[in-house]
This record gives sequence, structure tokens and C-alpha cells, in this order.
Amino acid sequence: MTMILDGTATAAKIRGEVAEEVTRMTAAGARRPGLAAVLVGDDPASAVYVGSKTRACEEAGLLGRSVILPGDTDYATLARVVDELNADDEIDGILVQLPLPKHLPEKDFVHRIRPDKDVDGFHPENVGRLWLDEPGFAPATPSGVIEILKRYQIALAGARAVVVGRSAIVGKPMAALLVRENATVTICHSRTRDLPAVCREADILVAAIGRPGFVTAEHVKSGATVIDVGINRVTDAELVTKLYPDPASPRHKTFADKGSILVGDVDYSAVAPIAGAITPVPGGVGPLTVAMLLVNTLAAAKRRQGLA
Ligand code: GUN
Repeated sequence: MTMILDGTATAAKIRGEVAEEVTRMTAAGARRPGLAAVLVGDDPASAVYVGSKTRACEEAGLLGRSVILPGDTDYATLARVVDELNADDEIDGILVQLPLPKHLPEKDFVHRIRPDKDVDGFHPENVGRLWLDEPGFAPATPSGVIEILKRYQIALAGARAVVVGRSAIVGKPMAALLVRENATVTICHSRTRDLPAVCREADILVAAIGRPGFVTAEHVKSGATVIDVGINRVTDAELVTKLYPDPASPRHKTFADKGSILVGDVDYSAVAPIAGAITPVPGGVGPLTVAMLLVNTLAAAKRRQGLA
């Protein structure tokens, strides 16, 4: 029987734990943690992410501030906003939602955030700290993957882990965190030779490619744990039918109602029967990202107040 790793329930539990800790620390006289999320432009997906991040903060008793700027915001203005948040004592965590409009070089703004407020863990100082096992911030999405694996007691030490995708946001930090847990890690990418064969060696397979349904049955060893980090919006009816061959699948109704559905990088219908455990999309890794951002913001607030 395949175990479904429930990201929604796990994220709710983590958010509840953060809320409890915020209640405890503020009752003891500490300042509540604060997160500022900066959104430039009107990309609908980014707007949804920023909204859910700040709302989750408020629900857990943190301060959640959205800073929403028009798409034609210039370099100096965004730089000033980041500088002001860096200096703002109410704010422990800052994130600039990516991608930024093309005229704004992402790297400059990622580098501009103070490392001790960089709850996304994207600043080179935190990237270095992650690989060196020094205290810092690890990106929320791969941290969420580790958290759900641990909470479902999936053995990591000595396991063969294969990460497909080498992005700075997921693939690379995912590999670092798995190594920290004593897994034996391979990172694959578009130039990997015989990708299915490499993937089939995995006890834990993490798909973070950004291509709907890319990972199929030929990539998965029987009993493997499959983690699907992909969130792809699909509007193509043919692809929906290919990924969900069962006409009774509730995904077809969602597609008919909305004109699109979110699907992962894993062909769930084909892979779930083979896997030992799997994260669904939606309801898998996505909710964990928000929960782990709260965990990072809480940690930042404690460090900045000398409580940790
Ligand atoms: N864009 C996609 N994922 C993320 C994330 O985790 N943080 C930020 N800042 N932007 C993103």
C-alpha cells in the first residue's frame, strides 16, 4: 500500500507549533516575529504566494507585512525598500518574491537583504552556511521536504537520494540538506545520461524540474519515496487526460470548472502504484514551503532578540 505524505496536514501541524511558540515568547515579554514579503508587479501566481505567506503569518500570531510595488518600480526604489526593511526593528524576515521583472537584477536584491533577515536562505552567506553546517537559514521548500520525510519516519541516513533539478531555490539546497541527514546524494539535470536509470537507484527521489508529469514509472524503483516539488499550471486538455487516464478522477472536474489544474513534476497516476510513499500535488510540498518560512522567521526573531 502506497503511503500518501500529507503536506497539508503536516504544514497545519507545523504552523500550530509555530503559533504556540509565538504565544509563549510574547507572553514572556518578547516581541512577536515579523515577516515582510515584497512583491513587484502583478504576476498572478506570485501575488497568490505572497498573499498566502503574509496570511499564514497573521494566523500564527506573527506580523505579516506585504509590500506591493508596481511592475515598473525602478532599481533605486526597490533598493530603498529593502534597505528600510533591513533597518526596521519590527521585521525579522524579509523576502523578495521571485521572479522579479526583467529590468531588476534578482541577484542584486537577494544580496542586499541582511543575511540575518534572509529567511528565504538565498543570500550567498546563508548558502555557504548551509553547506558548512553552520547556523543560518535554509530555503523553505527543501526544508519542508526534510521535515515531512522525518515526520513520516522515512529513513534518511544511508539512503540513496536522487534530486532531479539543480536550481538555487530547490535542487542545490535539497542536496545539501539530504547530505546533512547522511543520505548519499546524486543531483541530476538536463545533461544527465540515462536519467531513468539513475533515478531508479533512488530510495528517495525528489523531482524539482518544472515540467508537468516528467517523472514516470520508468524513473521509480518499487517502494521508493517520491517527493514532487513541481507546481505546474496545465491548460492543455490532452495533457490532463494523459496524466489522469481515469475519467472519474476529480481532477477532470476541477479542470472543467477552472480551465486549468496544478500538476506536479511526477506523473502521479503512473508512479503512485509503484512508490512506497509519495507526495500529491496539490497538498504535498506546496503548503510546507509556507510553514517552513514561518519556522525560519520565528528562528530569526529569536536570534535577533537573543533568545536562541
Ligand atoms: N519564487 C518561487 N519560490 C520562491 C521562494 O521560495 N521565495 C521567493 N522569494 N520567491 C520564490
